[in-house]
Amino acid sequence: LSELYSPGALQGCTVMITAGPTREAIDPVRFISNRSSGKMGFELAAAAQKTGARVIVIAGPSGEFLAAGIERWDVETAQQMYETVMQHIEDCDIFIGAAAVADYRPATRSAEKIKKKETALTLRLVRNPDIVQAVAALDQGRPFTVGFAAETHRLKEHAEHKRCHKQLDMIAANWVGRPGLGFDSTSNALEVFWEGGHVSIAQATKAQVARHLIE
Ligand code: CTP
Ligand code: CA
Repeated sequence: LSELYSPGALQGCTVMITAGPTREAIDPVRFISNRSSGKMGFELAAAAQKTGARVIVIAGPSGEFLAAGIERWDVETAQQMYETVMQHIEDCDIFIGAAAVADYRPATRSAEKIKKKETALTLRLVRNPDIVQAVAALDQGRPFTVGFAAETHRLKEHAEHKRCHKQLDMIAANWVGRPGLGFDSTSNALEVFWEGGHVSIAQATKAQVARHLIE
């Protein structure tokens, strides 16, 4: 680690990281979610803490543990994650959106358990707010904003489109749906893009990849 950055490199800085999946309730017993474990975001928090930064994690449901000294706010839905980020974003210098935020939620949450009746059931979904995009659009105290891009195909093209469209300072793209990489896996590899620059972080444990990204 000492080869990557000096222990006090981000002393005095505040880093906020979103991590994990979100859960979007259908009824009291069911939800829509995804395969994110939260591991990448939590490893980023650990790596950021080693730089001397104050670290705040806004976490969706995840079984991962955080080191002492890292501030943690637990949320369930994308809407709650959005609100919690906005409540604490003031004075943040760096924002990293590592969460796998559900793009859609059920239009209505049934108060009662939905009973099975017909042979098919249609759920209407509505868009959730885009958290990293909202942070990048802040006009006061906008932090250096880093997004992720989870892609199964045309990784560079999709990642660069997301970076430009959301006006991010940097985007870390990773392949998903391939054995041993990304979601629900212990290792990862990243293609990192910013205005006029690019670096590849080779496949390694998520802890190692996180240190490289923080570097
Ligand atoms: N993100 C977010 N809020 C959302 C959706 C995504 O903050 N409602 C963030 C993720 O945390 C990630 C980045 O946006 O940093 C990209 O997420 P991704 O799912 O790869 O891209 P989307 O823009 O949602 O596009 P799509 O799912 O269609 O590929
Ligand atoms: Ca998405």
